[in-house]
Amino acid sequence: MQETQNLITDLDILDRNQPSEEVKATLDSNSGNQRKLYIESYGCQMNFSDSEIVASILHNEGFDTTSDITQADLIFLNTCSIREKAEQTVRNRLNHIHGLKKKKPEMMVGILGCMAERLKTKLLEEEKIVDLVAGPDAYRDLPQLIAQVDDGAKAVNTFLSREETYADISPVRLNSNGVTAFVSIMRGCDNMCSFCVVPFTRGRERSRDPHSIVAEAKNLFDQGYREVTLLGQNVDSYKWSEEENNKARLEKKEVNRIVNFANLLEMIAQIHPDLRVRFSTSHPKDITDEVLHTMARYENICKNIHLPIQSGSSRVLELMNRGYSREWYLDRVKSIRNILGEDCGITSDMIAGFCSETEEEHRETVSIMDEVKYDYSFMFFYSERPGTLAAKKYADDIPLEVKKRRLDEIIKKQSEISRFRYGQDVNKIHKVLIEGTSKRSDEFLQGRNTANKVVIFPRENKNKGEYVNVMVESCSQGTLFGKIVDVE
Ligand code: SAH
Ligand code: SF4
Ligand code: F3S
Repeated sequence: MQETQNLITDLDILDRNQPSEEVKATLDSNSGNQRKLYIESYGCQMNFSDSEIVASILHNEGFDTTSDITQADLIFLNTCSIREKAEQTVRNRLNHIHGLKKKKPEMMVGILGCMAERLKTKLLEEEKIVDLVAGPDAYRDLPQLIAQVDDGAKAVNTFLSREETYADISPVRLNSNGVTAFVSIMRGCDNMCSFCVVPFTRGRERSRDPHSIVAEAKNLFDQGYREVTLLGQNVDSYKWSEEENNKARLEKKEVNRIVNFANLLEMIAQIHPDLRVRFSTSHPKDITDEVLHTMARYENICKNIHLPIQSGSSRVLELMNRGYSREWYLDRVKSIRNILGEDCGITSDMIAGFCSETEEEHRETVSIMDEVKYDYSFMFFYSERPGTLAAKKYADDIPLEVKKRRLDEIIKKQSEISRFRYGQDVNKIHKVLIEGTSKRSDEFLQGRNTANKVVIFPRENKNKGEYVNVMVESCSQGTLFGKIVDVE
């Protein structure tokens, strides 16, 4: 799953929890409910999307959201376990909340998400201010758990489900610009990459009913949204079998027998040509030419593929249990270039200093970056996670300073390639969906092109939610700058 900012650090996440004035207004809209919920999300887009489901469940139980933590009756941290640092960030935040709770002892504090799932009741022992712990599949139980805390007890539910997809819950859009939204299409992961904690914190993979996904996307379009991002840890293994799930519809011949990811993409793309579709994350072992051809057929399916490589060395990929080699990966990139052309964005995640990685294997990661020419990447050094296959089988034997130096080299290489890739967009016209005013000045608007690159340009008389053509005149490493032009 792609994290939402270029070159993200775990600290950036705190920044993302600082809402804009516009978002504050949505968060603080008061529907007369008695109690106030403050919710902060860490980690991947899936967590941000889950927080919207949580807000929806609690809205029906008498909670309004607030952007002001000091006003909250209930504080939820929706947490991430992906790296040790992500967990440390949450622990530091709890220390701060401890101070608030001293002043307002009746304030309830809950931990949701992946850290809740990983640590379960241990969290209650380790963090005394925590009243409630709920894993990612337990959110329907929140009203019940809150009632237990109201009665003076501590409450925990970390049961993982094989079926839960929250398909019927319409999320309350929390951090919304009113133009782009996340729609979760599946949950969990069955891949067992040896470094990764997600299969343990999110449970088994399951796909959501395509009809509920289409209905949610249609509804968003009707409300004025113009872009949906379909979310899953491995979207290419999306699979819905009508046979197993709805015999009645099948008998009426209303639907195909099996809906795969390419079919789902097409169903969403057909909602309206003005509704853009993005998706994340694609897995190199599973992405099919059928998906690439579907992307090519629809202008509104954005030409950007997040295809995390993790390492450029086939031996390390094998240890990582990724299910592909360097050659396989490069062959997939060749297909992308053949079917979707040079302009299709390709982005990645990399891990520096995985167990036993040699200098030469590290250089293979750097060299594959040169071959693929990623538009941008999310880059990390390896952080051993308890309970994972790698923690059990391999020694975390690369010294921290070596991991950091290798990561630094990867980041430098990516900067060089990003400058090259963004440079290629200069002097070209890009279709941009306007998402709002630029952070730097009200005189400028910002949006993204099909390849997910941020484009900034003078406002003229345009508004968010509109499409414009922008002639890009210059760029920095992570942004394109230009002006609106008329083209037919
Ligand atoms: N499902 C996505 C990844 C989700 S986690 C996929 O398969 O690509 C997001 C990224 O965090 C991963 O791609 C990986 O680069 C990084 N990551 C995961 N576990 C890590 C660990 N133990 N140490 C460092 N980085 C890790
Ligand atoms: Fe983790 Fe691998 Fe699943 Fe991605 S595909 S969530 S890296 S186990
Ligand atoms: Fe996402 Fe972090 Fe969990 S990346 S799935 S919130 S461990």
